[in-house]
Amino acid sequence: MSAHGAPIPMTSHPCTALQGTAHVPGDKSISHRSLILGAMAVGETVITGLLEGDDVLDTGKAMRAFGADVQRDDDGTWHVRGVGVGGFAEPTNVIDCGNSGTGVRLIMGAMATTPITATFTGDASLNKRPMARVTDPLALFGTQTVGRSGGRLPMTLVGAAEPTPVRYTTPVPSAQVKSAVLLAGLNAPGQTVVIEKEATRDHTERMLAGFGAEITTEETSDGHVITLTGQPELKPQTIAVPRDPSSAAFPICAALIVPGSDVLVPGIGLNPTRAGLFYTLQEMNADLTFENMREEGGEPVADLRARYSPEMRGIDVPPERAASMIDEYPILSVVAANATGKTMMTGVKELRVKESDRIEAMATGLRAAGVTVDDGPDWWSVEGCGAGQVTGGMTAASHLDHRIAMSFLILGMAAKAPVAVDDGGPIATSFPIFEGLMAELGADLRRDA
Ligand code: S3P
Repeated sequence: MSAHGAPIPMTSHPCTALQGTAHVPGDKSISHRSLILGAMAVGETVITGLLEGDDVLDTGKAMRAFGADVQRDDDGTWHVRGVGVGGFAEPTNVIDCGNSGTGVRLIMGAMATTPITATFTGDASLNKRPMARVTDPLALFGTQTVGRSGGRLPMTLVGAAEPTPVRYTTPVPSAQVKSAVLLAGLNAPGQTVVIEKEATRDHTERMLAGFGAEITTEETSDGHVITLTGQPELKPQTIAVPRDPSSAAFPICAALIVPGSDVLVPGIGLNPTRAGLFYTLQEMNADLTFENMREEGGEPVADLRARYSPEMRGIDVPPERAASMIDEYPILSVVAANATGKTMMTGVKELRVKESDRIEAMATGLRAAGVTVDDGPDWWSVEGCGAGQVTGGMTAASHLDHRIAMSFLILGMAAKAPVAVDDGGPIATSFPIFEGLMAELGADLRRDA
């Protein structure tokens, strides 16, 4: 089933050269944070380029339920009138975060130190995902939680009436966990400290500083030590959301594997905590170049050009790069299947607790498509078949996971026989214009009756 309705079976037929310019939508991580921080500021935050995917729209609805005024103009500009740190009202209904782990975990953090009670739920995918990684540190502030066994949604949080600040070392490399603790720390007096051994995406830190919070990051022998001073007054911002590198990955990787392709993907953020895939592709000998490098809103940005690359080779992707490309392993495995030699991916156990078990989902579909895949708890490897040599001719299960659905549809563009997915519906959570954008470049995607 798709996130919001009946399944949408789709088939991707092998296609000829992909050509043109792909304007991908706004960054999902920054879009969620813009709405949440806007709701915690005093005054009106104005957002352009917001990703209007289901995940972010669900976060917008949640912010309304907590008392913020969230409006969209006809031209796609969003306005959030916030209620201030500690100003969230108690929602009258259950908060449904749909498919979004980022949405639910960040919102739990944002409400955890305000004395209100809220109940959260999601779709079948989200209700399987672990929440203790967030509720454990929130308990240190004094937040109480009751949920299903194994720390699963639906779950009720009772915000701490007298929160104490927290010093917390994240046990898993997760920007969602780090962000939940920092957002909870906003309404605790004194300093909340998060220590992470491996750097994860740092949008929360950058944006909190932009909203006027006092926040510092120090590199120490223990890792990255992030210190936030609680109870600031957050000042509303004007935010231009950059385009999403994780969405850019799909047209870029498609161009690399479809013969004759040449695709430009403009205005992509190259924040080092997000850009790992692009450096990995270059190491694999992909013809991927960064044009017009510039800085926008304090972030490095470039136009990315990808051309058909029949001579890509498998590599070992270093585990320390995993956090900077954690959402890109499914599509990397598709490129790896079209390269020569083995691609080994280690340090990736977090892939098993995403919208689906992404190693399992990709390995099963790739094997059915004729690719040799090996895997263990924390690693997987793909034996390249060589350019255009994947057999295809199968249907993959997308497991309510947008990135699995998109990855298999891209596989079909360069396989010998079409590749189908049982449900393309989840693509709407992060990349609602995927189908039209890829068709415009020359892809042959069909909705099956
Ligand atoms: C995200 C963090 C990552 C990523 C997700 C978005 C964020 O999850 O997979 O798509 O916006 O903070 P983890 O924090 O669980 O690694």
